[in-house]
Amino acid sequence: MSTGTRIEVMHGVNLDQLGRRDPAQYGTITLDELERRISEDAAALGLQTRFFQTNHEGEFIEHLHRLEGMADGIVINAGAWSHYSWAIRDALELTALPAVEVHLSDIFSREEWRRHSVVKELCVGSIVGKGPSGYREALELLRVELAR
Ligand code: DQA
Repeated sequence: MSTGTRIEVMHGVNLDQLGRRDPAQYGTITLDELERRISEDAAALGLQTRFFQTNHEGEFIEHLHRLEGMADGIVINAGAWSHYSWAIRDALELTALPAVEVHLSDIFSREEWRRHSVVKELCVGSIVGKGPSGYREALELLRVELAR
């Protein structure tokens, strides 16, 4: 049996605005630069990446619906939706794929409402507050998970 290597990297609401958002939380990297870095890290780990970003919750959900047979694992940063979208949680569950949650900022040291993630319990790992390097850690985790 061959090991899955197709990783879907999904960015949710407002992540297209990286580079304009509070640099103290998110740094100055743009989404394009971040995705380039992620795909390079993935290639070094023998993984292939596909990227998706939307500011529309329904589109994010429909993209999750379409993943069957298209991806082996998911890296998900759903932005603010992470904190309250039970609909995204249900759609992520439906994929039945191993997923790792990433947040660039440390959601635990920010406002109270950011401290809870509705997708966390479905994920094999959750990496927060490590900036762009968090995505590399997520890929490493998924690689281990997919080789099990
Ligand atoms: C974020 C954290 C969220 O609380 C916030 O709403 C975002 C980005 C992060 O990557 O740190 O949009 O997911």
